[in-house]
Amino acid sequence: MMNAFDPTQDRRAFLRTAMGLAAGASAWPMLAAAAGGAAAADAASGTSSSSATALQSGARRSVIIDCDPGQDDAIAILFALGASERLDVRAITTVAGNVPLNLTERNARIVRDWAERTQSLPVYAGCPRPLTRELITAANVHGKTGLEGVPLHEPLAPLAPQHAVAFLIDALRAAPPHSVTLCALGPLTNLATAFTEAPEIRNGIREIVLMGGAFFERGNITPAAEFNIYVDPQAAQVVFASGVPIVVLPRDVAVKAPITPARIAPIRALGNRCGTMAADIMAAEVAYQKGRRGVEEAPMYDPCATGYLIEPSLFKGREVNVMIETVGEWTLGETVVDWSGHSGRKPNATWITEVDADGFYAALRARLATLP
Ligand code: RIB
Ligand code: CA
Repeated sequence: MMNAFDPTQDRRAFLRTAMGLAAGASAWPMLAAAAGGAAAADAASGTSSSSATALQSGARRSVIIDCDPGQDDAIAILFALGASERLDVRAITTVAGNVPLNLTERNARIVRDWAERTQSLPVYAGCPRPLTRELITAANVHGKTGLEGVPLHEPLAPLAPQHAVAFLIDALRAAPPHSVTLCALGPLTNLATAFTEAPEIRNGIREIVLMGGAFFERGNITPAAEFNIYVDPQAAQVVFASGVPIVVLPRDVAVKAPITPARIAPIRALGNRCGTMAADIMAAEVAYQKGRRGVEEAPMYDPCATGYLIEPSLFKGREVNVMIETVGEWTLGETVVDWSGHSGRKPNATWITEVDADGFYAALRARLATLP
């Protein structure tokens, strides 16, 4: 019987056929072992760790990056891979967003080649379109390939065979309680589909750190909405209603750590492959903004999310209630943040609004320096 209130019901049927969900098979026994210590301690104390707590305890965080590369996604992935003593990036899952899925998954495989993680970092392809809306992309910003600004090679290795949603379900089912951090850098379609298909997997998540939304800053795809949320507002609604701890890096903070030529120069001066790729991508982002707005700077979007995981002390925010507008004719995809607590609704996210921008770029440069 179709559930009138569950827009993803038909997608559950799709998932069962398209993925052939293997019941019981664990995708990730190593995670259970590796994260057993920290997560088991958390579970015993009944608390779920925050990034700051994780760093205090020195625990290396198991991370899955869900993304839509995408120029800034590429830099965010490199940033995370360069912080391997803090983040254990176990997989990349990809979703349609900046460009269609056939390009976002290809670009994720290209980026892992740059970091020479081809054989040790699986890339999964996920949902090719939002839960209910038609896909809109940002190819006008990121270029036809999605990685405007850098030469692209043929990826050196194929995708992992499983659908990203099936992988997320299997991996989170196998994970100890509150042990996996999901870093979401694109539309939230994969996460929402996994939560709908297997709600119990939320127990395996430590927190979701996502780039998305806008409150004090206005939208970048419509006057009211930021791109990641606007592409799939229904998915965002599922994620923000999930009860999982969420940290949001919105446009509000991305515009406070702008990319500028002066900040690109020290990264280009590293002279390594990943520093050069990041510098070329950032230069392309600034060039786009110069052409469109006449200013030589660009918001630093997705790397703020991985930067938060690596150095949370560089950021400040507030626990608030965030609701997603899913029907507004002019405000579809707006993140309605109850900053002053007027609504009486329970907080469901930490909304980051401040960043030490110079500290952020110093951390980014230091991490890129550790890569090939
Ligand atoms: O609004 C910025 C977000 O949309 C970033 O994640 C960028 O990659 C695009 O996906
Ligand atoms: Ca993105």
